Amino acid sequence: MNKVSTSRQELRSVLITGATGGIGMELAKRYARPGRVLILWGRNRERLDEIAKLCCARGAQVSPRQIDLSDGESALAALREDQTKHGLDLIILGAGLSDIKSPDQQTEDPAAVLKLALVNYATPVTLATAAAQSMVTQGYGKIVLIGSVAGFYELPFAASYSSSKAGLACFAQAANLAWRPKNIQLTLVVPGFVDTPMSQRLEGPRPFLVSAGSAARKIMKAVKMGQAELVFPWQFRVLRVAERLLPSVLRQYILQSLDVGQKKHAGEQG
Ligand SMILES: NC(=O)c1ccc[n+]([C@@H]2O[C@H](COP(=O)([O-])OP(=O)(O)OC[C@H]3O[C@@H](n4cnc5c(N)ncnc54)[C@H](OP(=O)(O)O)[C@@H]3O)[C@@H](O)[C@H]2O)c1
Repeated sequence: MNKVSTSRQELRSVLITGATGGIGMELAKRYARPGRVLILWGRNRERLDEIAKLCCARGAQVSPRQIDLSDGESALAALREDQTKHGLDLIILGAGLSDIKSPDQQTEDPAAVLKLALVNYATPVTLATAAAQSMVTQGYGKIVLIGSVAGFYELPFAASYSSSKAGLACFAQAANLAWRPKNIQLTLVVPGFVDTPMSQRLEGPRPFLVSAGSAARKIMKAVKMGQAELVFPWQFRVLRVAERLLPSVLRQYILQSLDVGQKKHAGEQG
């Protein structure tokens, strides 16, 4: 995929969803600087205030918004409002939910599946499209979608999560073909395990774990370079190639044998 030349590499306005989360907070801190507007979206008021204060102290102008992304229409209206007010050079769609079926459940909880599909797929692709629409008019822009290596696999214990991330990846590839010629650069970020509250809930090993700070640095570099896709850490790129060589019966057997659990959410939010 060709790299995009934006006319404003300095990124004067940056919107981050999931700015109250492990990866989002690190990105917000690192993007905070004088002369830049940071539009920070999150649900948790306390953490939103905390990250807003930190970014202000680093000289950024901060516009925080408490919002629940399971309401896609409100999210779309909020995006249009922020866009009109601040313009948008870069939007990072990082908010996400994960869920794992416990052994005592026959299936995932349908209500949780709906919420996950809205937060992880429906709302981000809607916001990406709305952002692209206005970026076409301004002649440039950057969009980041955060997927997951879980999207590479049909995880029987996390069918809704893995498929939401696979759907996001498919959207990113198609949108890139449509938008790159219009000088809109879309980067799909595909992390393995990152040490944040999301992965800390998992019971069991987190192979090739990276810190949230390291993840943020890699993402910012990929955005700067105009990469279409960033898969990290590198071990997952190798696994992806190796796993394509497996016969499908063996692949299915391995996926069905995986035993992964999760701790309950604090306050069971999401
Ligand atoms: N951590 C990993 O190992 C890992 C691996 C692969 C991909 N990812 C992806 O990376 C992204 C960031 O995750 P993270 O690791 O930083 O997890 P995290 O610390 O749990 O943060 C998740 C973020 O999403 C926000 N969020 C969740 N539900 C929301 C809702 N209904 N409305 C609005 N915001 C909502 C949370 O907001 P509040 O906290 O304010 O509720 C929080 O800011 C996610 O898309 C995740 O799927 C993470």
